[in-house]
Amino acid sequence: MSPKPTNIAGDSHTSVPRTPVMVPIRSLGANHRERIAAHLESLDARDRYLRFGYAASDEQIRRYTDGLNFERDEIFGIYNRKLALIAMAHLAYPAKKTCDSCAEFGVSVLKSARGRGFGARLFERAAMHARNDGITQMFIHALSENTAMLKIAKSAGAIVQRDGAEAEAHLILPAATLDSQITEIVHEQMALADYRMKAQVQQFRSILSRLQAMRCAAGTPSQ
Ligand SMILES: CC(C)(COP(=O)(O)OP(=O)(O)OC[C@H]1O[C@@H](n2cnc3c(N)ncnc32)[C@H](O)[C@@H]1OP(=O)(O)O)[C@@H](O)C(=O)NCCC(=O)NCCS
Repeated sequence: MSPKPTNIAGDSHTSVPRTPVMVPIRSLGANHRERIAAHLESLDARDRYLRFGYAASDEQIRRYTDGLNFERDEIFGIYNRKLALIAMAHLAYPAKKTCDSCAEFGVSVLKSARGRGFGARLFERAAMHARNDGITQMFIHALSENTAMLKIAKSAGAIVQRDGAEAEAHLILPAATLDSQITEIVHEQMALADYRMKAQVQQFRSILSRLQAMRCAAGTPSQ
């Protein structure tokens, strides 16, 4: 019998190799709202249930994305080379001043991009940002059956409390240091540079295909 496929980290549930530690995760502004909606709408009913705690309809997802507050909260994203948003996380600050130093974390990774460490990297990125922003506790609400999410939280040192079908994890964050602040700036700059490069390649590709189409229309054979 052949052995079960394992990835680099030795997990047996997937054979996809894990991504190197540095993943370009960028902060998203309101101009990414449409792509955030498209990302969430491409999740199936089960993933929507795991993400929101209910099987959100397209309409409910629209309401959620329309209501995103990019000034107050922080949204992070991972784009692939075709500039599709393959993973995103929402670090939500309380709307009411009930807990000034708390934030809630929510995340989703497209099925095709799972098992590569993107969920864990987004968690680390959000925790680093929260810490640098003076947040002392990060909360995660998940279903008790959500093994992957609870594993991410536990591996980062969060305390998980299960209450029937639901679980709450909370992570105590250390105070910011000069090092954590510089690290965040460096990560953000690298992610922005990566995004700009992908955007330029996309632009170049579309110019090439337009030229090709014009050549074909003019009956000129391609080189
Ligand atoms: C939860 C989710 C974000 C994980 O994303 P991911 O990129 O696949 O996660 P990672 O690759 O970083 O894996 C994190 C850990 O979970 C483990 N894991 C991933 N999928 C798993 C699965 N199906 N079963 C068991 N463990 C799993 C990984 O092995 C890894 O553990 P390790 O660090 O010990 O190796 C993703 O499954 C998802 O989008 N689910 C739907 C939405 C959701 O549940 N959101 C969370 C609630 S807000």
